[in-house]
Amino acid sequence: MPEVVVALDLASGSDAIRLLDRLPEARWVKVGSILMTREGPDLIRVLTDRGLRVFLDLKWHDIPNTVAEAVSAARALGVSMATVHALGGAHMMEAAAEAAGGQLGVVGVTILTSHDGVSYGRAVSRPEVDLAREAERLSREAMRAGLAGVVCSPHEVALVRAVVGPEGWIVVPGIRGRTEARGDQVRVATAGEAVAAGATHLVVGRPILQAADPSAAFHGLVEEAQCIGS
Ligand code: C5P
Repeated sequence: MPEVVVALDLASGSDAIRLLDRLPEARWVKVGSILMTREGPDLIRVLTDRGLRVFLDLKWHDIPNTVAEAVSAARALGVSMATVHALGGAHMMEAAAEAAGGQLGVVGVTILTSHDGVSYGRAVSRPEVDLAREAERLSREAMRAGLAGVVCSPHEVALVRAVVGPEGWIVVPGIRGRTEARGDQVRVATAGEAVAAGATHLVVGRPILQAADPSAAFHGLVEEAQCIGS
């Protein structure tokens, strides 16, 4: 069954706890750079003590030894999933997978959902890049290195599913309703479309955090995901 992961992109741990008090059915939460920098590992312990699965999204991209030590620290904290950038290369991803030891799922970020082909091409000094092929290529590298899966935009899920196999995790941000504001996200789709294409985890921030009724928004997404995913 696909999971809806609530991205806790909020200003403080107490804001996050207040939100979670309104979402008792939430099973997965994502802690990213904002909250981790503000609150540190204590917040992770509070979340795991509430029975939540924590996705620590710090998108590590460093030398293999440093990334492996960071993965070990996440593992000791009880984190269930963590991210590395697939562009960090095979050795870095292999070190991360080894440090995870099957205790947490390390997933490789392929291409940020805020990129289009031109902006990504500029970052890697190439003309406009075919992002679907690039996500496919990076997913192949991530799976060869032994990662549990990848992060990609809704637009690449179907192609990536063929690479990661039936068991691989495909974690998908950039989830938006048809009429919803995209914000800085470029490659977006609905929850139903992402699940139909093969997503296992939908990462959703602003559509829940900024909703007039976050609980209704969360439940709407869960229903949409489960209805297509079952
Ligand atoms: O608010 P929104 O639903 O756009 O939030 C998406 C979340 O997913 C953010 O926390 C963002 O950091 C994260 N993310 C992303 N693109 C990636 C990887 C993670 O948007 N490639």
